[in-house]
Amino acid sequence: MPNPFTDPAGLPLILPSILSADFAAMAEDCASVVGDGLGDALHLDVMDGHFVPNLTMGPDMCRALSKRLPGVFLDVHLMVTDPAAIAERFVETGAGHVTFHVETVKPDEAAALAEAIRAGGASVGIAINPPTPVETLEPVLELADLLLVMSVNPGFGGQAFIDDVLTKPPWIRERLGDEVRVEFDGGVDANTAPRVLESGGDVLVAGSAIFGRSLEERSGVIRALRG
Ligand code: DX5
Ligand code: ZN
Repeated sequence: MPNPFTDPAGLPLILPSILSADFAAMAEDCASVVGDGLGDALHLDVMDGHFVPNLTMGPDMCRALSKRLPGVFLDVHLMVTDPAAIAERFVETGAGHVTFHVETVKPDEAAALAEAIRAGGASVGIAINPPTPVETLEPVLELADLLLVMSVNPGFGGQAFIDDVLTKPPWIRERLGDEVRVEFDGGVDANTAPRVLESGGDVLVAGSAIFGRSLEERSGVIRALRG
């Protein structure tokens, strides 16, 4: 399957976050938001109840979705204290991309983890929380195919976008240019998306803005997010 992050057919990319989907009808709800004229991939939020105050899903969700929706690229976002303990299991169960948080690893651990994720055939992302200074990314910048700028404090869907993080993409692009993906996650909707794109973001994750709407409205929302 082509990797939309390392080999994008077009930008920006829009990724529905399944945290806001109906967990009792997961495959059907996901099928309603990806494909022609819809989202480019699915975003899976993995929370361990320790790095963030919520518990969500594990590799079994990744396996189940890759079986039911085999052509759909899966972007896994690890909000866990020990990403090295589980990252490879997500790659084995169908993730095409795995992002871990800069707050959870030392630079040498990040290098080893990125190598392990890549060895399994997936691309690598590094996320940064709103209060973490962007300079914290300096020693790990070259390791990543994608930098994930958190625009809410992670843990829950449906929170308000934090404008302060819009200064982070210019800092990243000054160092890495246009070849790297800059993903935004949290509070992204039709109102905030233009500011995200203007700041240099080119991958937009949206949960409640998409799944909070009726089935008929979802393609229109995704089109609006593309700008
Ligand atoms: C937040 C998660 C997000 C979340 C976004 O901790 O990482 O992916 O699903 O949800 P919305 O788009 O509703 O802010
Ligand atoms: Zn996320």
